[in-house]
Amino acid sequence: MELHRVPGSSRRARQLRAHMKRTTIWFVVFLATLAAAAGSLVYAQFDAGYYSQRNPGAIMQSAAPKETDGATYGVTAYPLYPPELAPGPGREDVQSYCSTCHSTRYITMQPPLSPETWTAEVNKMVKVMGQPIPEDVQPVIIKYLQTHYTPDTRKP
Ligand code: HEC
Repeated sequence: MELHRVPGSSRRARQLRAHMKRTTIWFVVFLATLAAAAGSLVYAQFDAGYYSQRNPGAIMQSAAPKETDGATYGVTAYPLYPPELAPGPGREDVQSYCSTCHSTRYITMQPPLSPETWTAEVNKMVKVMGQPIPEDVQPVIIKYLQTHYTPDTRKP
């Protein structure tokens, strides 16, 4: 006999309430996550395309440096041409054989390299890059590079 039973206090009803409570909590958590995601999307939209000095990859120009009184500024032609190669025997060979794929700046922009490295470099251009430099010209080119572009021989 369950005469005085309070409605809704049955085991089933308690289980149902607990279930509802859990469901509500998860629903709130879900809503909060959704709101956070939507919020960051909107924020990203606002932020898109805005770069400042703080951001790497800044596209805004920085302020021009302050000019000091009395300083002199020289402007010369922008150096578009490959720098002159050092004069000496073998220079023409280098100019004709070493400028078909890239400019001879590739030679002058290197730090001073050891004689062995120049030998390896020329071998690489022949064997790896496929430049057909005649057998008898290769030593001339190597000698030229070793004469002018090593730590001991390179002139500034
Ligand atoms: C057949 C095409 C070709 C010729 C000819 C050529 N090179 Fe190169 N060279 C290349 C390529 C390709 C690279 C690599 C470029 C890169 O990595 O950006 C290169 C790179 C270089 C570099 C930069 C260092 C390196 O190893 O990447 C030097 C120095 C160089 N060459 C010197 C020479 C010299 C000296 C000659 C003449 C003997 C020569 N090149 C002729 C194709 C050539």
